[in-house]
Amino acid sequence: MKNIILTGDRPTGNLHLGHYVGSLKKRVELQEEGNFDRFYIMVADTQALTDNANNIDKVKNNLIQVVIDYISAGIDPNKVTIFIQSRVPELAEMTTYFMNLVTLSRLQRNPTIKEEIKHRGFENSLPIGFINYPVSQAADILAFGATIVPVGEDQLPMIEQTNEILNSFNYTYKPKEEIFAKPKAIIPQDKICGRLPGLDGKVKMSKSAGNAIYLCDDEATVKQKIMSAYTDPDHIRVNDPGKLEGNIVFAYLDAFANDAHFEKYLPEYKNLDELKAHYTRGGLGDVKVKLFLNNVINELLTPIRKRREECLKHINELYEMLFENSLIASAHARETLNKMKDAMGLNYEKLLNN
Ligand code: TRP
Repeated sequence: MKNIILTGDRPTGNLHLGHYVGSLKKRVELQEEGNFDRFYIMVADTQALTDNANNIDKVKNNLIQVVIDYISAGIDPNKVTIFIQSRVPELAEMTTYFMNLVTLSRLQRNPTIKEEIKHRGFENSLPIGFINYPVSQAADILAFGATIVPVGEDQLPMIEQTNEILNSFNYTYKPKEEIFAKPKAIIPQDKICGRLPGLDGKVKMSKSAGNAIYLCDDEATVKQKIMSAYTDPDHIRVNDPGKLEGNIVFAYLDAFANDAHFEKYLPEYKNLDELKAHYTRGGLGDVKVKLFLNNVINELLTPIRKRREECLKHINELYEMLFENSLIASAHARETLNKMKDAMGLNYEKLLNN
């Protein structure tokens, strides 16, 4: 069986450290393992429009930003096919057929959708396109025969619905040959990486909460953000014992620091356990820990910033790459769509008498 990896992001803002540990890092690993026939990353502009219909500029401008973030984070466009959702019209047609196989009440039960409707205040003005996006996402996944879909945990209900749609299609139209591959989600194993908290310590890192460190932040911005990160409000004097629970600086160290960082930037401690022990005992100030974290994050971001600089010099080439890749993706989706229409009996050519 073919191994096809597919994943995507909505282009609504620059990517941040939460995206990095939650998905980009894994994508780069998968890319380097090379165990796939094709690896697609889709910039989901069409999906982004389902709650940004009057915000076209936001989606349009962020499209290239997200692509620059991918490449800066280590995605190699020679290995991974990055394309634009709206440039693959087959996806829209597939969505139309799949919509007939899904009930509104099933969509209303999707826990991620439920949550997002509340969050966006859509209770009384719900766009049809928005509540339908899991169906369109099923088309994204099934069109390319994706077997592996690396996503965040919040996307599991989408994969579940995709599998239901697959089964429903097969049950309804009984294709003679298998058209779709069964998709499997892979999610971050690490708890902290699956849900990186924001700098304020209140909610998960996100653009809308304004609590993010972006891959494109410069050194001074990162430092300023880290110095203001939420720690332990009761840890007032250096000698006070400190709490690790809810302490964002230690949460980030959990996600990003390794022993080599200690050797390089804070050799008085062998590893994070020793640092944590000192902090909880008392006698270790927040500033020292924050400066260490700043070094760790900058070591990660320095090469990312360099690649970003390079990307910025080649914007036209990036767009051209996206357009070409979208044609490849479109041809792939077309094959699947033709098979679907065959199975559905929408092959009217066959009615011609020869
Ligand atoms: N819904 C995904 C997100 O918000 C983005 C997405 C769109 C996606 N289509 C996809 C992810 C297909 C995986 C596969 O993160």
